[in-house]
Amino acid sequence: MNMYSEKVMDHFKNPRNVGELKDADGVGTVGNPICGDVMTIYIKVKDNIISDVKFKTFGCAAAIATSSIMTEIAKGKTLEEAEKITKADVASNLDGLPPQKMHCSNLSSDALHLAIENYRKTKEKK
Ligand code: FES
Repeated sequence: MNMYSEKVMDHFKNPRNVGELKDADGVGTVGNPICGDVMTIYIKVKDNIISDVKFKTFGCAAAIATSSIMTEIAKGKTLEEAEKITKADVASNLDGLPPQKMHCSNLSSDALHLAIENYRKTKEKK
């Protein structure tokens, strides 16, 4: 029996938007000290909209799937909309996650929010 939904398996096997954005406007990295998984999200911002987003994740299947789906949810959103993306949104877009894997979806929403914060901070300095 597979504890993951088909959507999770699809995003795990064919992750979208994997990689790095060399000229990213914002970068956010989070790790979970318990499982040791680490995720970095890169965003490109144009006219207050997330025009591109990529991720690098060293982690479990759920961490990879949640990063992948999160990039799809975030792309094209305004920064304010993207800031409101929660771990529950991430999980429901994957047709759910097993309870012990919910923290994996935290990583992706936290990393996205950090990337936005990073973008706002660097912009203030300019
Ligand atoms: Fe920790 Fe998935 S087991 S992120």
